[in-house]
Amino acid sequence: MKVLGIETSCDDTGIALLEGRSILANVILKQEHKKGVIPEYAARAHHVALADNLKKIINEHGKPDLVAYTNEPGLIGSLFVGTSFAKSFAYASQIPCIGVNHLEAHLILPKWTEQIEFPYLCLLISGGHTMLIYAKDLNDYEIFSTTLDDAVGETFDKVARHLGLIYPGGPEIEKKAKEAKEKGINKFPKVMVHSNNFSFSGLKTAAIEQIDKETTEEKKATFCYDFQEYVAELLATKFLKIAKQIGVKTWVASGGVAANMCIRNRIEKAAKDSGAQAYFPPIDICTDNGLMVAVLGEMLYHKNGPSALDLRPKAQFEYWRR
Ligand code: KG4
Ligand code: ZN
Repeated sequence: MKVLGIETSCDDTGIALLEGRSILANVILKQEHKKGVIPEYAARAHHVALADNLKKIINEHGKPDLVAYTNEPGLIGSLFVGTSFAKSFAYASQIPCIGVNHLEAHLILPKWTEQIEFPYLCLLISGGHTMLIYAKDLNDYEIFSTTLDDAVGETFDKVARHLGLIYPGGPEIEKKAKEAKEKGINKFPKVMVHSNNFSFSGLKTAAIEQIDKETTEEKKATFCYDFQEYVAELLATKFLKIAKQIGVKTWVASGGVAANMCIRNRIEKAAKDSGAQAYFPPIDICTDNGLMVAVLGEMLYHKNGPSALDLRPKAQFEYWRR
């Protein structure tokens, strides 16, 4: 079965074609939003990118048998473009289509790439979310932690902007940190140590104040290094806390921020020290892509069948289970 995956929840247009374990195509078109995503521009750019790229993929590999698309959550304009496109294409081609949840797609991707079994604990770290989700089975998830305010990716992006780095800020901070000669100079406040949940707004404010007060051009690399290390430590500590509570030995991190090597290494070490094993999707498919949508769409199609053609996009989503 050839499955087309269409991802347009934010600013990356992802189109992938999957057949069994073969990735026939996986095109990711990154939009340029130097100061942060402008929703109106993002929606327009998806519109332009989708038709041209789909045509090329179909010319090369033939028609799909199923269309999977992200219908929630995300920027509503971007979601409208992707869902309308996907449903119209499926209807015109007389093939079934299925709408999927973007977060569930991030959560399921490592299961497919790393071929791991349920249950596993997933740290889902992206521009909009910071969650620890216990995945017991397909469509059977329990959320143990979420952020009470900003998401971790959003915090990277805002701190980076304050440092004069371009959007998206996460990879820029990681790059800049590599230039650090001095290390361990910047200290950050400890937040939500005893809670299951995350909070990043206090850290963001403290980081921005520190940048304004004392971070000269020469000190920026050290700041990035220390900030990244701090966030990695914070995420790994919470991961360990919840994994111990549940008693789960399979750890997974996914979402854009899971592309960060410092964070991956810290999580890997925490897992190893506690007798668990950590898994990550390949770095280039941590950020948004159509492949994860195709992977989840195929699994859900076999379980539940196709979606109705009147399935609408939703900016927010209902939590699976708290
Ligand atoms: O999953 P994603 O592509 O989109 C959302 O679902 O939000 O995640 C995007 C986020 C951005 O905040 C970006 O700065 C962050 O992932 N990110 C990173 C890295 N690569 C992307 N953060 C830290 N280090 C990275 N290498
Ligand atoms: Zn995402």
